[in-house]
Amino acid sequence: MKAITIPEPGGPDALVWAEVPDPTPGPGEVVIDVRASAVNRADLLQRQGYYPPPAGAPPYPGLECAGVVSALGPEVTGWELGQPVCALLSGGGYAERVAVPAGQLLPVPETVELADSAALPEVACTVWSNVVQLARLGIGETLLVHGGGSGIGTFAIQLGTALGATVLVTARSNKHERLRELGAALAVDYTTEDFVEATKQATEGRGADVILDIMGGSYLGRNVTALATGGRIVVIGLQGGRKGELNLAELLAKRGSVAATALRARPTAEKAAIVRGVREEVWPLIESGAIRPIVHHRLPMSEAAEAHRLVDSSDHFGKVLLTVD
Ligand SMILES: NC(=O)c1ccc[n+]([C@@H]2O[C@H](COP(=O)([O-])OP(=O)(O)OC[C@H]3O[C@@H](n4cnc5c(N)ncnc54)[C@H](OP(=O)(O)O)[C@@H]3O)[C@@H](O)[C@H]2O)c1
Repeated sequence: MKAITIPEPGGPDALVWAEVPDPTPGPGEVVIDVRASAVNRADLLQRQGYYPPPAGAPPYPGLECAGVVSALGPEVTGWELGQPVCALLSGGGYAERVAVPAGQLLPVPETVELADSAALPEVACTVWSNVVQLARLGIGETLLVHGGGSGIGTFAIQLGTALGATVLVTARSNKHERLRELGAALAVDYTTEDFVEATKQATEGRGADVILDIMGGSYLGRNVTALATGGRIVVIGLQGGRKGELNLAELLAKRGSVAATALRARPTAEKAAIVRGVREEVWPLIESGAIRPIVHHRLPMSEAAEAHRLVDSSDHFGKVLLTVD
C-alpha cells in the first residue's frame, strides 16, 4: 500500500507518499481500507519530529480515518467485512490501509457521507471526554472555547450548544460570522479584545463555568480570572507554551480546577471506553443533525504537504480532509 512517510522531519515537504508494507490485523484489530483521513494540529508536530507516535502505533501520521473494513483479526466481534466505519487512531491514518483496535471503530452516522465522517472521531472523542466526562458541562452553564474556528472548536461549539450550554469563543474576526452560525453566542477577537472582560460581560460578571483551552501557558492566568466560582479549566493544547503562572489564591477562592489531558497516549482500553461514550451520547446528536462535520477542504492524500500548509496558516475553518481514490 501507499502511506505518507516522514523520511526526515521538517516542513510540509517532509511528507512523502511512498510504498510501505501492508498492515495485518492483530488480535482484536480490524484493517480499514481508508477513504479519507483528516489533518490534526498534532500531525504538524509529528512531521517536525516533536510528537513521536506511541509504542505500537503505525509510524505514519493520521489520528482518524473513514473507510471500509477489509480484514478482521482474531477475536473481533460486532464488525463485518465491507462495513463503512470511521475510527480513532493512534497513528497511520494517512495511508491506504490501517490496522486499528476494534474498540476504536464507530459506525458512519446516517446523516454523514463516508469521507466526511473522517472529520469526526478525534474531535468528538477529545471534546466529549474533556468537556462532558471530565468537566461535567451542565445545562445552562457557560462554556468558553479558545480557538473556536479550529477542528476542535467547531465541534465543541456544536456539542456545547446541543447540550444546553451557552458557548463563547475566541477566534480571529474573519471567522466570527461562521462561528455564530454554528451556535456561538459570542465570538471574541483575541487579537484586539480582552477575552476575560468579554466573558465577564457576557455572564453578568460570573465568568465561564468550563473553559476548553488550547493555548496552555500563555492563557493560564487569564483563564483563571475568566472562570466562574466552581469553574473547571481543561487544557488540551499548548500552542501558547508549556509553562505559565497559576495564581492558586485566585483558583482556591473560586473553588476552581485546572486539568490537562492528551488522548493519543491513553491505553487502548481507555480509548475504547471514550469511543463507547461518544457512540452512546454524541452519535445520536449527529444522527439527529444537531451536530455535523465541518469540512473546510478536501485534498488527495498525495497532496498532504499542501494540506499541512493550509492548517499551519490557520486559514481553515473546521477540518481539512485527505482523501484516497
Ligand atoms: N489533548 C488532546 O487530546 C488533543 C486532541 C486534539 C487536539 N488537541 C489540541 O487542540 C488544539 C486544536 O486542534 P485542531 O487540530 O482542531 O487545530 P486547528 O484546526 O489547527 O486550529 C488551531 C486554532 O488555533 C487558533 N488560535 C491560534 N492562536 C490563538 C489564540 N491566541 N487564541 C485563540 N485561538 C488561537 C487558530 O484560530 P485563529 O485563526 O482564530 O487564530 C486555529 O483555529 C491544538 O492545540 C491541538 O494540539 C489536543
